[in-house]
Amino acid sequence: MTERKRDRDGDSRLGEKARRELIGAALAARRFSYSPYSGYQVGAALLTESGRIFTGCNVENAAFGPTVCAERTAVFKAVSEGETKFAALAVTGSPRGKMTQFSWPCGVCRQVLAEFCDPERMEILVAKSEEDYESRSLGALLPEGFGPGNLAGFKEKEH
Ligand code: THU
Repeated sequence: MTERKRDRDGDSRLGEKARRELIGAALAARRFSYSPYSGYQVGAALLTESGRIFTGCNVENAAFGPTVCAERTAVFKAVSEGETKFAALAVTGSPRGKMTQFSWPCGVCRQVLAEFCDPERMEILVAKSEEDYESRSLGALLPEGFGPGNLAGFKEKEH
């Protein structure tokens, strides 16, 4: 837990051990992927600033539109349990039975993540295994993003 819980004023990148743990949790969550329509299995693991890990998988639907990505499943699980400050996310996605791709979060998930973190400090890991991964900040994946800061003070100024 101590290594998981980062000093918010310190280095924003995770240590190697914490990265492996987060990727391992994403790989485990991927086994629950409900993806009978695309056959594309995704698992995600979200680390909160408080040191907790929430996992998610993609959940597809016969009507297609209601499908939810693995990343948002993890985000909504965390927020619904009172966790609203995120530090890092690991994503593992590839066609069923393979682990061949670096699967970056879709645009909608990037926007949802930006609601609950400092994009420059939030670390996104995409992995094929605990050893084979890439890392970027959320800010690098969502440049010039629109976020809560845009609405800060909105009520006072406009009403
Ligand atoms: N998917 C995710 O879970 N995360 C992403 O960031 C991209 C796409 C899922 C949605 C759908 O179940 C399948 O992958 C194919 O699009």
